[in-house]
Amino acid sequence: VASAIADQGATRMSQPHETVLPTPSAWWRDHFKDNRTHFDHVPWDKCSITPDEARAIARSIAEFQLGESSEGKHLIHEARRHADAASDADYALAMSYFIAEENSHALALGRFMDAAALPRKRRTFSDSVFRLLRKGMGLEVSISVLITAELIAQVYYQALRDATQSPALRAICEQILTDERMHIRFQSERLAILQRYRARTGLRLGELARRVLMAGTLPVVWLGHRRALRRGGFGPVAFCRACWACYRVSERLADPAGYDWPDVAPDPA
Ligand SMILES: [Fe+2]
Ligand SMILES: [Fe+2]
Repeated sequence: VASAIADQGATRMSQPHETVLPTPSAWWRDHFKDNRTHFDHVPWDKCSITPDEARAIARSIAEFQLGESSEGKHLIHEARRHADAASDADYALAMSYFIAEENSHALALGRFMDAAALPRKRRTFSDSVFRLLRKGMGLEVSISVLITAELIAQVYYQALRDATQSPALRAICEQILTDERMHIRFQSERLAILQRYRARTGLRLGELARRVLMAGTLPVVWLGHRRALRRGGFGPVAFCRACWACYRVSERLADPAGYDWPDVAPDPA
């Protein structure tokens, strides 16, 4: 998955003589808008799973389903403020469609859970912590917290896909993985935009904070979801390795030095 995210970036990043800029907001707006029928192909009549499979994934899938269902009010509010300040109205629209896409993940997972007789959750500790972390923070911190969750999701949904034999759940996870790859790109590029005037020391401090957040989150996620992750083929080491591989790609996309900003003097270094 990390290499798939990297491939999307590679074609743009490996052409030093061509002007490379983050993907325009209008493109993201259209992308999220056009992607709304993405679960139509799921074989909804093939949701049944074995009792063993259910025991391994029940608690875990309920937490992720809840996490995907956030209304993102704070994020949309911050995105609007930024869009107004930057005269980038399409960004606010793109963010609204992005939240709708996350909610469509919650709907698809919820539909599967109902069909497979897996109980839903209304509130979990980790979901509350993530929501609290994002509240009251500016756009940059909110996106940083969100990216941490999305990078871990990239590995989690691979495990969930392989944890059962249900063709419906496999199709849902494949689609979520495709969507999340683009989410990571969307959010990482915005971090680059937000940080483009920052001096090198400030950039490195931001990276350090994101790494600390990631390093602190991984053991918590592992402990809370280890049954599903193990069933999907990830031990603790493989899980952390895969998450950090995705993280490195996101970090490169979020580095303003990877783009040719028309309004920023090139760094002599
Ligand atoms: Fe999602
Ligand atoms: Fe996402």
